Amino acid sequence: MDKFFLLSLLGMLIIVYGVSGSIVPDGDIDMVKELESFDIEEEDDSAVDTYAVPVWRSEHGSKILINVDSFDAVGDGVTDDTMAFRKAWETACSSSNSVLLVPKEGRYLVNATKFKGPCKHGMVIQIEGTIVAPGEPENWDPKLPRQWLEFTKLSAATFQGDGIIDGSGEKWWAESCKKNKSRPCKGAPTALTIESSSNIRVKGLTIQNSQQMHFIIARSKTVRVSEVRVSAPGDSPNTDGIHITQSTNVVVENCKISTGDDCISIVNASSGIKMKRISCGPGHGISIGSLGKDNSTGIVTKVVLDTAFLRETTNGVRIKTWQGGSGYVRAVRFENVRMENVENPIIIDQFYCDHTTCEPQASAVKISQIMYRNISGTTTSKNAMKFACSDSFPCSNIILSNVNLEKTDGTVETYCHAAQGFGYGVVHPSADCLSSSDNDIAASDETQVPELEAVQLPTERHIVHTEL
Ligand SMILES: *[C@@H]1O[C@H](CO)[C@@H](O)[C@H](O)[C@H]1NC(C)=O
Ligand SMILES: *[C@@H]1O[C@H](CO)[C@@H](O)[C@H](O)[C@H]1NC(C)=O
Ligand SMILES: *[C@@H]1O[C@H](CO)[C@@H](O)[C@H](O)[C@H]1NC(C)=O
Ligand SMILES: *[C@@H]1O[C@H](CO)[C@@H](O)[C@H](O)[C@H]1NC(C)=O
Ligand SMILES: *[C@@H]1O[C@H](CO)[C@@H](O)[C@H](O)[C@H]1NC(C)=O
Repeated sequence: MDKFFLLSLLGMLIIVYGVSGSIVPDGDIDMVKELESFDIEEEDDSAVDTYAVPVWRSEHGSKILINVDSFDAVGDGVTDDTMAFRKAWETACSSSNSVLLVPKEGRYLVNATKFKGPCKHGMVIQIEGTIVAPGEPENWDPKLPRQWLEFTKLSAATFQGDGIIDGSGEKWWAESCKKNKSRPCKGAPTALTIESSSNIRVKGLTIQNSQQMHFIIARSKTVRVSEVRVSAPGDSPNTDGIHITQSTNVVVENCKISTGDDCISIVNASSGIKMKRISCGPGHGISIGSLGKDNSTGIVTKVVLDTAFLRETTNGVRIKTWQGGSGYVRAVRFENVRMENVENPIIIDQFYCDHTTCEPQASAVKISQIMYRNISGTTTSKNAMKFACSDSFPCSNIILSNVNLEKTDGTVETYCHAAQGFGYGVVHPSADCLSSSDNDIAASDETQVPELEAVQLPTERHIVHTEL
């Protein structure tokens, strides 16, 4: 007899008798063990705090302080301080041991700017005051349509301070096609972008009311983000908190994110991403994806979310892919998550569709080895868990352990479509709808892409999901 079947049976018995166990299918023990324990390398935190104000003034006399005020920045929130910031950047970038200071109490109006490296190593960008963007979309620099403050080609740099980066996004939101249907859909700037950089630390800043996404980490490696706050209204369109793309070894910890889109989103060509102690809400939750849009390849591997609190978000932990894509999402662990009034606490959606029509397509981004462990709380919808996977590329090795989701006014259930996996320990609602066959589905885990012609089109048109 199929050992998965036996084990599901065992799992059910365990639930029935209320005993928490840790029995997993034999052949999967190694995979489960690895999923349970793999970690993302973190560096020692000691390097960061040594620059904290006012320490560098007294004890680090070798630091060169470059204050934007010395370059005639006014900081009254009205005067254009763009040139002062650009000049201060040039000076700081070319000096060893420099600290670029944006002083407290100032409110500096700065236009879209690319702050380019490479700079001398060990640069500190100390933001104590507020940097504010001009609020009028019509006057935005057409050469930088998607950027406000972009930092590129840095290595070994630290951004820190209690200051605020404020995108003044209100007019951009009103002009978004999601708010005003008669407007064309076009991208808006990202408040803070760190691009093509390595060994970057970002600590303590607040990023708020961005025109669109708040903070993008792109094409970078070894980035550590801690104690960052992101704040924007729950109805501000596409205002993702932290968006990670084409980056490796990124740690995001102790961050509090309230926004109108994903609190954290992780997309293509990203690997070794760890999120720790994250608070999210309002927002759309913590997402891997979307991936595979316009038949593109999306690859995301090795992601850990450990300890999170999600409150009144539309999703909890989500993986979303478009039909027609290729590539894979593999080796993901979501653990120690508490949810409160979350619409879709646990969701895999391989039929993601951001606009009204998405034709069924056979090809898909393959999803496997996804573990959910110690996840509890309340949902506002009946489907506390939803695994909507592609017929031609079913999800495999979805593993649930100690999951307990409730609805205050009703029962909860799990939705499965073409999803294989198993649960152990307490799993509520039960995940019996996960298929346990370890033949076809599990065997295709190595992401062999079947010939497209040989693959059937999805039969269920209705599982196209739309989200605004
Ligand atoms: C900043 O943007 C404003 C408004 O578009 C423009 O008038 C000003 O010249 C810009 N400043 C710089 C330094 O380019
Ligand atoms: C929506 O956009 C159209 C076209 O730009 C504009 O005429 C209209 O005033 C906008 N509506 C609102 C409510 O802002
Ligand atoms: C995703 O990343 C891979 C590998 O870096 C790249 O080949 C592919 O073009 C990327 N896809 C998109 C949509 O950018
Ligand atoms: C994606 O591929 C499908 C099937 O080959 C094709 O019909 C569709 O036009 C493609 N879409 C894009 C955006 O290239
Ligand atoms: C389960 O997750 C919650 C919420 O993050 C946490 O408080 C608790 O300590 C976790 N339990 C275990 C056994 O790790």
